[in-house]
Amino acid sequence: MFDVQNLSSGYGDVQVLSDLTFGIGNEVLAVLGANGAGKTTLLKTLAKVLPLRAGALEWDGQQVTHTPAHELSNRGIAYVPQEGNVFPNLSVAENLSLGALVGTRPKDERLDEVYTLFPRLAERKDQRAGSLSGGEGQMLAVGRALMQDPKLLLLDEPSAGLSPLYVDTLFQTIAEAREKRGLAIILAEQNAKKTMEIADRVLVLSLGRMHLLEEAKSLSMKRLMQAYHI
Ligand SMILES: Nc1ncnc2c1ncn2[C@@H]1O[C@H](COP(=O)(O)OP(=O)(O)O)[C@@H](O)[C@H]1O
Ligand SMILES: [Mg+2]
Repeated sequence: MFDVQNLSSGYGDVQVLSDLTFGIGNEVLAVLGANGAGKTTLLKTLAKVLPLRAGALEWDGQQVTHTPAHELSNRGIAYVPQEGNVFPNLSVAENLSLGALVGTRPKDERLDEVYTLFPRLAERKDQRAGSLSGGEGQMLAVGRALMQDPKLLLLDEPSAGLSPLYVDTLFQTIAEAREKRGLAIILAEQNAKKTMEIADRVLVLSLGRMHLLEEAKSLSMKRLMQAYHI
């Protein structure tokens, strides 16, 4: 469904990602790696927020290597950045409504679904997004992405800075959304243990290179940790 060929990317003179090749089907693909490994850079590049230095991207059988970010969201790819992923001065409902600018289903239908997935957001509809807790803010960011009715969701460290209870709730909801919608997800995370519970396959990045790509089921924690420390 989404194919990444020999992707390289970086900032200015700094090359961060080198020669990554992988594909994603209808699954949860976890991108794991230590702080600084290149997870955020990878998701930014896939979302076209950052240009590719080399390589090619294909989505649904079509080249999208140079397709602009907004066009990709119209074509079913939703991106939740690690930071700055909500509009703090808008309410919860207004933030969610922005997601409905993409797609054609009635907004209220989509809102109802997101509020059912995240009852906490329903309780805080009129609250300013900037006054939400960290966990609620992440729920809102994911909720807004789901409002776009995406086929592929790019999620960058949704668990960062959250308490374990929030992480459990958030991950359960992500798994539930995936099941209900048959959605593919690329999930970048530092929280390996939790992520392994919902991932189908795992890609480990270290210093911008791919050190492992394997089925989550057959991957031991030991091998995973070894890949981390290369
Ligand atoms: N805007 C930027 N300009 C230059 N270097 C950056 C920028 N953002 C990230 N980097 C560098 O890219 C590398 C990978 O960072 P990042 O993709 O954020 O990793 P991760 O998300 O895995 O923690 C790091 O060495 C980081 O310092
Ligand atoms: Mg990151």
